[in-house]
Amino acid sequence: MASVGGAVRRIKRAICGPSQLKLNSGLAKLERVFRSPPVPPELVKAIRLIAPHFDFQPDEASRDFWEAEQNGACWAEYECLRDILSKLPKPMRVLEIGPGLGRSLVFFSKKCGWQDCELHAYEADGKKTKYTINGPRFEDSFCGTISELRRVLDHNAVTNVTIHDAKSVPMKDLPRPFDFLYGFYTIGFHWSLEHFFDEVLTLIGKTGIAVFTVPNDFKAFPRLQEISYRLIEMGRTVDDHREKLLVLGPR
Ligand SMILES: C[S@@+](CC[C@H](N)C(=O)[O-])C[C@H]1O[C@@H](n2cnc3c(N)ncnc32)[C@H](O)[C@@H]1O
Repeated sequence: MASVGGAVRRIKRAICGPSQLKLNSGLAKLERVFRSPPVPPELVKAIRLIAPHFDFQPDEASRDFWEAEQNGACWAEYECLRDILSKLPKPMRVLEIGPGLGRSLVFFSKKCGWQDCELHAYEADGKKTKYTINGPRFEDSFCGTISELRRVLDHNAVTNVTIHDAKSVPMKDLPRPFDFLYGFYTIGFHWSLEHFFDEVLTLIGKTGIAVFTVPNDFKAFPRLQEISYRLIEMGRTVDDHREKLLVLGPR
């Protein structure tokens, strides 16, 4: 017999669509640079792990909403970083920390011509979502699905990404230095950057730049003074979200 909760969910979904969140209408109108593949059960499971707030089902409405939402987030970040991105050397070495299902690698590759760059991603498979805001560092914070990340990259013909499995490669052992290192809604946002700061500084060396999403009420921690940094206000992607981008370096 169907549960009452399940029935309520289906009614809400019929009225509101796959998410209670309302996309910023300006961003939602922009080109869909990132393309979502069709959503077989494995990808549905991976999206639910990364975005548990989103009532994701294996149907076209969910796929379409996800694609729109992923592009909206990318456009907001791209608009903030356009200046920095346009001044980066080419070809260059790039590292994305916690790419999830690869929206930004796809978006930036297509918008910034990263086809000839050396792209790296640092991610690990996870079974549970354990998000905090500005929380401590812990071993099982990962909720990625590397096989699905690869599926999404392949679907977008982004084939030049080396994926490092964080379960077997410690962050400090990644090849370095990187010209550009970034992480959106990962370390810096869910898990305070303070706990990863040494590795990040080592990975960008003296000349690289690092960018992280941070919460709107982000407070500088003392060691941040070791490096030049600035904060950029981000436009809203969905109704009640407002974050900042923290830009570190060069030193
Ligand atoms: C909220 S998702 C963000 C995904 C993607 N950056 C985006 O904005 O769509 C957080 C991601 O950080 C990853 N993650 C968790 N702990 C991490 C760590 N210690 N280092 C790097 N990534 C981590 C998770 O596996 C997950 O893919």
